[in-house]
Amino acid sequence: MTASALIPSSARSLPLAVAAKGARIYDEAGLDYIDASSGPLAVTLGHGHPRVLAAIADQFNAVDYAHRTQFRNPAAERLAVLVAERLGGDLGHVMFVSGGSEANEIAMKFAHMYWAARGLPDKHLFVSSSVSYHGNTAGALGASGQPRYAANYRPLVRAGETITAPQVYRLAVPEGSSAGAQCIARLRSEFSRLDLRRTAAVLFEGIGGSGSGALVPPPGFLEELRALCDAHDVLWISDEVMSGFGRTGKWFAFQHSGAVPDIVTFAKGAGGGAVPLGGAALSRKVWGEISAVYPAMSGGHTFTNAPLACAAGIATIEALEEEHLLPRVAAQGAWLGARLRALRAEFPFVGDVRGAGYLWGVEFADPVTAEPPDPALDVTGKAVAAAAASRLIVYPARYCVDGTRGDAILIGPPLTATDEELDELLARLHATLASLAPLFPAP
Ligand SMILES: Cc1ncc(COP(=O)(O)O)c(C=O)c1O
Repeated sequence: MTASALIPSSARSLPLAVAAKGARIYDEAGLDYIDASSGPLAVTLGHGHPRVLAAIADQFNAVDYAHRTQFRNPAAERLAVLVAERLGGDLGHVMFVSGGSEANEIAMKFAHMYWAARGLPDKHLFVSSSVSYHGNTAGALGASGQPRYAANYRPLVRAGETITAPQVYRLAVPEGSSAGAQCIARLRSEFSRLDLRRTAAVLFEGIGGSGSGALVPPPGFLEELRALCDAHDVLWISDEVMSGFGRTGKWFAFQHSGAVPDIVTFAKGAGGGAVPLGGAALSRKVWGEISAVYPAMSGGHTFTNAPLACAAGIATIEALEEEHLLPRVAAQGAWLGARLRALRAEFPFVGDVRGAGYLWGVEFADPVTAEPPDPALDVTGKAVAAAAASRLIVYPARYCVDGTRGDAILIGPPLTATDEELDELLARLHATLASLAPLFPAP
């Protein structure tokens, strides 16, 4: 490989991407890779969606940039309404940023401002679940239930408190109970041990991502979280950065439950996947209290409410609706999940398959004991490399069991993936798993 001025992003030698269309990326040798993870579960509309391109070009020709403290702009105004309508409830107060970490940072600021406005400035701590991931900036990383991710810069990151994520795989369930009931009972008892007097909010992923390997909250779990937050004066921030914008077959994953959060964060697929766009939506209650004291949000970024990104966001919502992608993902997602689960028969080291829509975690485990692999083996890294060798892009979910152990990959194709692309994805995944089999010798 020729020397590069770019700081490497992977210890692996990576192909050079020179073209991309739909669910495929092509390297400089013309080889095609099936993008089975939409990059980092972001490229919702597939690569090179013409509608996003046209919207950006039109916006560039109209108003390429106008700063939020100097002008309002029609794209941001309209996108805020479209997002609020799809969120439902009274989550009608929206601010746009450039990504998921920024979205969670501003959500945390808003949560603190809410309590400060109510005369409770001590409420500034954040609780997340162990395991989870909320971003790579200092605040969002500190609030992530994956301490290893901060290992190289620990002194810069303030670690938050955690509750146990609702993992049902490997959970011992007593006679007459259910895994969901166990998780809910544990949530209740852990909640009561938190420093609730100083807690501003709980951050919880609608459906988990790379931190947990697509953990799905069991039925009733989010409703219980809602009730506990209300009972103890704590806000609930639903992090929909990965699970939002149709990825799980609903606009937002919390909508699989009957509970509504106080704040929702989103990013990744919000701009179709290629355009940096994220944001936070606040309920009427939250913005009402804040705005009584702070009529405007002074903290922001250069690209907050940026017209180009918001134009891409509008085009994304329009494309998701006109191409009927949510119902397709709901239906095809069930099919994809069934096909992934079926792999367990042939590859018994596929321990658990969980997810919804086009967000699936495939977790590896000992075929006999269900124990996670020895972390020293780096099964996740080997799986990602083996997939790449089969020209398949999957996303790693390391340490997904408890922050130190757990190997999984995420499968989440673009929501626009064709039947042919999905079949090719599964064929290449099959080849990937076959090449991993020697790591798990039969007993
Ligand atoms: C659930 C969740 N929250 C936040 C983030 C951070 O988003 P970004 O990488 O856009 O900063 C991610 C990224 O993977 C994520 O999956």
